[in-house]
Amino acid sequence: MDQRKALTTARMRRMKQDGEKITMVTAYDYPSAKLAEEAGIDVILVGDSLGNVVLGYDSTLPVTLDDIVYHTRSVVRGAASTFIVADMPFLTYHGSLDHTLAGVARLMQEGHAKAVKLEGGAEIASTVQAITQAGVPVIGHIGLTPQSVHQLGGYRIQGKSSEQAKKLLEDAKALEKAGAFAIVLELVTEELAAWISRELSIPTIGIGSGVSCDGQVLVFHDLLEYGSTSAPRKFVKAYAQIGETIRNGLAAYANEVRSGQFPGPEHSFHMDHDVIQYLNGDKE
Ligand code: KIV
Repeated sequence: MDQRKALTTARMRRMKQDGEKITMVTAYDYPSAKLAEEAGIDVILVGDSLGNVVLGYDSTLPVTLDDIVYHTRSVVRGAASTFIVADMPFLTYHGSLDHTLAGVARLMQEGHAKAVKLEGGAEIASTVQAITQAGVPVIGHIGLTPQSVHQLGGYRIQGKSSEQAKKLLEDAKALEKAGAFAIVLELVTEELAAWISRELSIPTIGIGSGVSCDGQVLVFHDLLEYGSTSAPRKFVKAYAQIGETIRNGLAAYANEVRSGQFPGPEHSFHMDHDVIQYLNGDKE
């Protein structure tokens, strides 16, 4: 059992003030969450990247609220002492406030998340405000927002021009003002991420946004090269090659089954000698 002090949104703000980096990773199930907690990760995100790396979709758009609730429950069972954030999936927070809050309630009450994450800037600030006023901590997410991939025209670096950079800073400030306790900056230039991070009193969590963010997040399957077949991306560093280890293990198992090497005597169970004699019709 992890004996670390429970992480809170206030503590994350203090970490920013103290220059202590926040570590975040995605996880989608019990074993990965358990390993993340054992590794001392600060925050686990049950991201809608679930759609790409676990469910086999080619975007996050098909991921449903039911999917996130289901996976958040298993993550919480694996990492009960870690601060767990659940993603609000595509189009679950752009309708009525009642509809949005009903979704948030499911993530908190059924999923047992501690916070929710929403993609978008100033245009969703009033929604963020309503959710935080309902007592639910919110993380914002700006820059490359995968739920808007078709509008953005692909997965590309955001905020390169001065107008885009200014707009992203305004978005970040609007989210802070609305009560967000942190903001994910995805695929923005290092210079812009540094500028936004300096301007905000809440922490920024970067992915593909350079070292000046107050914390970093990566997708579990990317940083461990776990089953991912996607081309290497510049902003991802692989710390282990789990996919290769698993593939080699499975191939060795299949070979040994085919050759009769597995199961060996050490994996088998035996009857008492007199029962064998009895079954052989060898009655005394
Ligand atoms: O869904 C996700 O994994 C995310 C991270 C990339 C921040 O939103």
